[in-house]
Amino acid sequence: MRNITQDNITQAVIARFGDTPNPRTREIFVSLVQHLHAFARDVKLTEAEWFQGIDFLTRTGKMCDDKRQEFILLSDVLGLSMLTVAMNHDQAEGCTEPTVFGPFYVEGAPEYQTGDDIAQGAVGDPCEVTATIRAEDGMPIKDAVVDVWQADAEGHYDVQLAGLDRAQNRGRFRTDAEGKLRFRTVVAEAYPIPVDGTVGELLHAARRHPWRPAHLHFKIEAPGYASLITHVFKEGDPYLDSDAVFGVRQSLVARWEQKAEGAWRMHHDFVLARTAHDGAGATTQVHAGVEEAAPVLASA
Ligand code: BEZ
Ligand code: FE
Repeated sequence: MRNITQDNITQAVIARFGDTPNPRTREIFVSLVQHLHAFARDVKLTEAEWFQGIDFLTRTGKMCDDKRQEFILLSDVLGLSMLTVAMNHDQAEGCTEPTVFGPFYVEGAPEYQTGDDIAQGAVGDPCEVTATIRAEDGMPIKDAVVDVWQADAEGHYDVQLAGLDRAQNRGRFRTDAEGKLRFRTVVAEAYPIPVDGTVGELLHAARRHPWRPAHLHFKIEAPGYASLITHVFKEGDPYLDSDAVFGVRQSLVARWEQKAEGAWRMHHDFVLARTAHDGAGATTQVHAGVEEAAPVLASA
């Protein structure tokens, strides 16, 4: 085909992908072309705008390294991360809902015993967190591996603090025979997602704020159960209805209660869904499960 016009180019490009041997890969390529072309037609994309888009994506890529993932942040503020989570976890009634993973999980967090303090000197008011991990039928899940992580009172995760050489506000626990968990930390506070990159430019251009409501992250794994990646959000937070990354679900909102002057506590019950097979590989979260996905670009 030589006489390419704006009217026949979409079909021409789709036809060029016709020999893609993997049917899922073909489906993704074809749909991508259809939607990308429809988008360009819809907004009547100018050449200058096309170039700005390329420049934006180039700079986004250049910001990414093993500590900073600006593309995931972009996916988060566009709602793509949460859409992918929501589409892939049709929760059984009564099971705890998942939400976005976020960029601040670190493999190999310190292992702690019940009652330990994960704050390790982080700024903030002290808070005792208790939780139970149960199956849908109410049976306690013993020996579930529970990773928790959160920001300090100034809105920083330990990995964002230059010069800090130890973990703060993150750790790994195992549930006891009653499926219980207890640890000390600081009270979670609302914080802005990083705005010093291209995602910050996007938010500024749209006059969108970068704030996430206060939350505590949980990643819970137990053999025979679907892995759960979620948060518990703080009731009363002013950003619950406008989370910059669209992660809030009402079922995940809990009360932080004041026990005494400056000391807090929070309790939450989690319910895991059983898997048909042994738990391994049941995680299909966008970030955590990437290595488990069938490789779209693998040669046939
Ligand atoms: C977080 O909760 O850690 C997070 C999630 C998405 C984007 C930035 C931060
Ligand atoms: Fe967070």
